[in-house]
Amino acid sequence: MEGNSSGDPADQLMTTISRHHFGDDSDRPAISISVVENMKEDYGLFVWPCSIVLAEYVWQQRLRFSGATVVELGAGTSLPGLVAAKVGADVTLTDDANKLEVLDNMRRVCHLNKLKCNILGLTWGVWDASTFSLCPKIILGADVLYDTSAFDDLFATVTFLLQNSPGSVFITTYHNRSGHHLIEFLMVKWGLKCVKLLDSFSFMPSFKASGLSGNLLLAEISLSSEVTKTTISH
Ligand SMILES: C[S@@+](CC[C@H](N)C(=O)[O-])C[C@H]1O[C@@H](n2cnc3c(N)ncnc32)[C@H](O)[C@@H]1O
Repeated sequence: MEGNSSGDPADQLMTTISRHHFGDDSDRPAISISVVENMKEDYGLFVWPCSIVLAEYVWQQRLRFSGATVVELGAGTSLPGLVAAKVGADVTLTDDANKLEVLDNMRRVCHLNKLKCNILGLTWGVWDASTFSLCPKIILGADVLYDTSAFDDLFATVTFLLQNSPGSVFITTYHNRSGHHLIEFLMVKWGLKCVKLLDSFSFMPSFKASGLSGNLLLAEISLSSEVTKTTISH
């Protein structure tokens, strides 16, 4: 546990630092990331299971991330983006521009892990000059598909970023609550294609998988015009 700069005793009680390890040997991790969490109120101040899954995937695909330009959307506590930065990616962490506490916490976790990431307020479906300058090779999003009323704004932003950076890919983890219909519907609607769909239990190490429950999927998504091959694994 650690104190919180707000000075509010309730904040201090609810603020914790969790440590997340990556590597083949659970007793001797290759890298570790510390994350500041606060159970108080905000979705973006908690490490959601989708984030643990996406961070592990980034670690396993680290050669692909090394040197890549990465933007994480709805990053919250930012575990996947921090792992990408740790393995050598140039990372921009983003969250709702109105969530100042979440954005402050991102600065704090970067400092805590001695990582240099850009921090940007990016509200889905809202464009400003900083959004136009983003040309990510890889877009990350953990647990950003949970509120159907936000899907259009989210996918407007995702599609814009994919178009702004030819050959780029959106990698997202989500709880599959409606079979494959949701992702199929979104792909058709936005002219996108799912090039890889994985059950997270197919690649999570057993010591991490045992702490997860539910149907957690990972999808890699590109512009449909750029893609010729689809892989579906379970
Ligand atoms: C369920 S949390 C997931 C946080 C983190 N990615 C994780 O998995 O631990 C959803 C995140 O999306 C962000 N978010 C929600 N609506 C948003 C919007 N319209 N624009 C940008 N970010 C948004 C929230 O602030 C929050 O950080």
